Amino acid sequence: MDFKAMLSDILSKEIQELTKEELLLTIEIPKNADMGDFAFPCFKLSKAYRKAPNMIAQDLAEKITLTEAFDKVEVAGGYLNFFVNRKYFAQEIIGEIINRGDKYGSQEIGAGNVICIDFSAPNVAKPFHVGHLRSTVIGNSLYRIYEFLGYNCVGINHLGDWGTQFGKVIVAYKNWGNKEEIEKEPIKTLLDLYVKFHDEAELNPELENEARNWFVKMEKGDEEALSLWEWFSSETIKELKKIYRLLNVEFDYYSGESFYNDKMEAILEELKSKNLLKDSEGAVLIDLEEYNMPPCLVQKKDGSTLYATRDITAAIYRKNTFNFYKCLYVTDYSQNLHFAQWFKVIDLMGYPWAEDIIHVPFGRVSHEGRRIQTRKGNVVLLEEVMTGAVERVKEIIGEKNPNLENKEEVAKDIGIGAVIFNDLSNNRIKDISFSWETAFSFEGETGPYVQYTHARSSSVLRKADIDVTAEINGAALTDDVTLAVLKLIQQFPEAIIDAQRKNEPSIITRHIIDIAQSFNRFYHDHPILVEDEEVKKARLAVVFAVKQVLKTGLYLLGIKAPEKM
Ligand code: ARG
Repeated sequence: MDFKAMLSDILSKEIQELTKEELLLTIEIPKNADMGDFAFPCFKLSKAYRKAPNMIAQDLAEKITLTEAFDKVEVAGGYLNFFVNRKYFAQEIIGEIINRGDKYGSQEIGAGNVICIDFSAPNVAKPFHVGHLRSTVIGNSLYRIYEFLGYNCVGINHLGDWGTQFGKVIVAYKNWGNKEEIEKEPIKTLLDLYVKFHDEAELNPELENEARNWFVKMEKGDEEALSLWEWFSSETIKELKKIYRLLNVEFDYYSGESFYNDKMEAILEELKSKNLLKDSEGAVLIDLEEYNMPPCLVQKKDGSTLYATRDITAAIYRKNTFNFYKCLYVTDYSQNLHFAQWFKVIDLMGYPWAEDIIHVPFGRVSHEGRRIQTRKGNVVLLEEVMTGAVERVKEIIGEKNPNLENKEEVAKDIGIGAVIFNDLSNNRIKDISFSWETAFSFEGETGPYVQYTHARSSSVLRKADIDVTAEINGAALTDDVTLAVLKLIQQFPEAIIDAQRKNEPSIITRHIIDIAQSFNRFYHDHPILVEDEEVKKARLAVVFAVKQVLKTGLYLLGIKAPEKM
């Protein structure tokens, strides 16, 4: 039940100057409940009415006819403050949640529209760093949010499986490599080879040339070069899939950069025929000086292509293949310029959908206050974060709840959930710091806290062992603490839309933290399994509603909600 929409209906009968849509957008939710449950600021109207906002509010308050959903309206300065009928409010919210179940908050606003989401995209034979983990987590959550709103999502892992690093790794493998090691631990071994190459090349610069030659060979289709490349890639993907499985993340396509190899020539031709290319000492680029950006390089002197060439080609391919409504790219903000440059190129090529390709940047991750350095440390850290998380939770469960069934499974859900939740706790653009202490606390604003609140409501429902139905008496749910919980539940669908519009999963994270906190206050103040059947049923229905919203919220973040923990 959309109370804001009901309110804008009421207001629209007296206000002709704003459309219902505008009214809807103007309605606010006061931070302080004494100022009403919904408020309508009259400032926008003062020009048209040639009156002070508080006068307008006075007039409107007299004219307006409230429906059964609202008890009263009060004037406070230039605001109209509306107070819901609490009994009605409770019954409507609970009724809707019970009717819609897992679908509460979902919509069809995206029906018929495809959203491509380019996320995770680590590089073969280069570090899989915490930034990639963050891209994976944010991208996966956006995927779920958009799908929940009816969009049709296409998740693409644009693996960095092409580029000069392969020339380096081939040289390193031929000199110092070992087959079994690669098969056993591909990501780590290939990275070691890559690092070794750099160390050796400092002493022997000739190696750089050799590496460049191997990459040129790859681009020309040399069999030996390609078979090594393919082996490195497939071993890496096998290991990556293990990480994704642990995180519960899936992709519709693993079409990495190499997928566009045979498609770039046509794009270079197209760029040429559109007079966009410039020669610069043998290299080919698109001049972007007019747009205050350095040029976008699309071909090197030796004829090899670049990251940007593949991105331009991939975007055109995706538009032709999926006819996306939007295509999102989730990477850390250090790539802002790269995206701005080639988005401009798409625009210069005359594609109107240039405005539908969107970079979704995020901040860097540091570990216990230390900046995570590139190269060696990272792979170790990633494994440590994931498996360490699960180990830590196992210990905690061992202390707190040693008889829990499915201990392993639950520890995994909580450990991985804590890492994901931590990642999605703040605005994505903020740099974040990963700390074991904060991420794994069962109190405070953490994943385990929300999961625990969910498990606690599950346990209350199990103990009560009665069917929760929509037939409740809302009169039992009219106190301030209960109203606060119900209001947050009522705002949940809006939070999802807000998260989608801003590509900001943290809006959901924060909303479910608020719900969990508010629920725990409710739970503390109100015994649930009381004598009075009517009160008991009504309170159980609140527990049920909270459980449902926490479960859906966690799902949208990519986190499991165990029934017991
Ligand atoms: N592989 C890149 C990196 O690790 C990220 C790719 C992002 N996607 C894209 N289409 N450029 O930085």
